[in-house]
Amino acid sequence: MEDRHASLSSFFLLALFSFILSYSCSTAYSNTALVAPIAYDPSTSLYSVSPLGGPPFDRPLLLNLDSSNLWRDCMHPLLRSPPLEPVLYHSAICKSAKVQSALISGDPGYIFGCSGAPTPVCSNFSCSVYASASLRTSPSAVLWTDTISLLSVNGSVPGKLIRVPKFAFACSDDILLNSDAAVPANAVGAAGLSRALLALPKQLAAKLRMKRRFAYCLPLSVVAGRGALFFGQTPYIFPPGGDFSNRFQYTPLLNNPQEPDSYFIGVESIFVNKVKLPINASLLQLRKDPNIIFNNKMGIVGGTSISSTLRYTRLESSIYDALAREFSSSAAAIGIQAVGAVGAFETCFNKSTVTVGKGGFRIPVIAFSLQGSNGPMWEIKNHNTVEFVEKFICLAFQRADQFQPRSIVLGTFQQQDCLLQFDLDGSRFGVVPNLSSSWSGCSNFKFGSTT
Ligand SMILES: *[C@@H]1O[C@H](CO)[C@@H](O)[C@H](O)[C@H]1NC(C)=O
Ligand SMILES: *[C@@H]1O[C@H](CO)[C@@H](O)[C@H](O)[C@H]1NC(C)=O
Ligand SMILES: *[C@@H]1O[C@H](CO)[C@@H](O)[C@H](O)[C@H]1NC(C)=O
Ligand SMILES: *[C@@H]1O[C@H](CO)[C@@H](O)[C@H](O)[C@H]1NC(C)=O
Ligand SMILES: *[C@@H]1O[C@H](CO)[C@@H](O)[C@H](O)[C@H]1NC(C)=O
Repeated sequence: MEDRHASLSSFFLLALFSFILSYSCSTAYSNTALVAPIAYDPSTSLYSVSPLGGPPFDRPLLLNLDSSNLWRDCMHPLLRSPPLEPVLYHSAICKSAKVQSALISGDPGYIFGCSGAPTPVCSNFSCSVYASASLRTSPSAVLWTDTISLLSVNGSVPGKLIRVPKFAFACSDDILLNSDAAVPANAVGAAGLSRALLALPKQLAAKLRMKRRFAYCLPLSVVAGRGALFFGQTPYIFPPGGDFSNRFQYTPLLNNPQEPDSYFIGVESIFVNKVKLPINASLLQLRKDPNIIFNNKMGIVGGTSISSTLRYTRLESSIYDALAREFSSSAAAIGIQAVGAVGAFETCFNKSTVTVGKGGFRIPVIAFSLQGSNGPMWEIKNHNTVEFVEKFICLAFQRADQFQPRSIVLGTFQQQDCLLQFDLDGSRFGVVPNLSSSWSGCSNFKFGSTT
């Protein structure tokens, strides 16, 4: 009786203690923002993020909305020895490594039969997962846990490094790093930002009891400097424009049951100088296609997804034609001379016939009207609209090939100097399309002397 009483009261003490512990944890980090710089690599047109923590994440990683985990090349001779704890196949963490994205779909695998001593990419009884880079995926990565650290920020003042113990990430060999344009120069892996449980947004939020939310702002060029990736709490301060966190226009994040880890939004119509393009509305919706079978079910096609690795927005063929036609006729109306295709672009113009006005080049304005109660508009102006190719400027959109199931994939060229927020708790996507009209830019975030 005595013993039972003692163990009961110690149980309550323990429960109370863990309640206090979890409560203090949640108050400690629920107000925290974590931040990491983003850099543009012109040789691959990809963006990398530097977590700013200590090893094993002290080197740049590909910024990848489609990647289902954080992975790195653990065989790289310059990098530290392998982290210590492999995730076992029968553990809960391994079960949560299931993924379903545009690139891959599947359960984690079981590794048994490594010959010799364990290596970062082979360890008996461990959990084998996918590592995704831009356009490519390797199925041979192994899940481990280690402490990672990220820089915290208080408003615009950089704070201390926050340590995240037992963070699950994948170790891969160097197959992906050695394949063409799979990751930015100098990158050693990828920072996965998908909706998968082990990708950074959900895993960080679970570990630190933060909001399941992140935002990024892609810099305009190498010269402009570094952009920023934020997790958790706002504000998002870009001087001199100040805090942009209350200037978002929101649209719901849509669920595609075939790719629940990817980010889809609803584009309702597209305008050029306020003229609505004649687009077949059903192309803009996610819809079942009886001619496509995916995992033994009818495939889901159409709709709009957001990419952090595709450079120029790709449009289904008839949508591209409608945009190019209206853009060209609006351009012709203000004396801009069309020259046809140049290089990788179908729709180009003679640069010396374009005049410069107050906000940059005087060219037609493209706007995407998004699903939502207040009719949010994503205006795509100037530097997000045209690319320079020699003496020409070209409409910086491309025609999708027949294998692209999405009608619109929003590329990074159109996202530059825009602040994008992915709010997983609120199931919504926010955009501030015009940092530059407040004389701000994605490179204006101050990382302070820590970097
Ligand atoms: C893995 O298991 C195989 C087969 O039993 C064995 O030969 C090998 O030595 C083991 N490797 C390690 C690293 O434990
Ligand atoms: C953040 O900054 C504000 C204003 O400077 C200050 O009052 C607050 O204590 C700081 N919070 C933390 C966690 O450092
Ligand atoms: C619109 O697109 C859908 C899906 O591709 C197609 O089935 C339909 O025939 C199209 N409608 C028109 C009027 O072209
Ligand atoms: C571009 O426009 C300029 C000025 O109107 C003209 O001199 C030049 O010949 C044009 N170039 C082409 C390739 O049409
Ligand atoms: C920025 O864009 C939003 C939405 O398109 C608009 O409401 C706002 O007035 C714009 N701000 C500036 C400074 O242009």
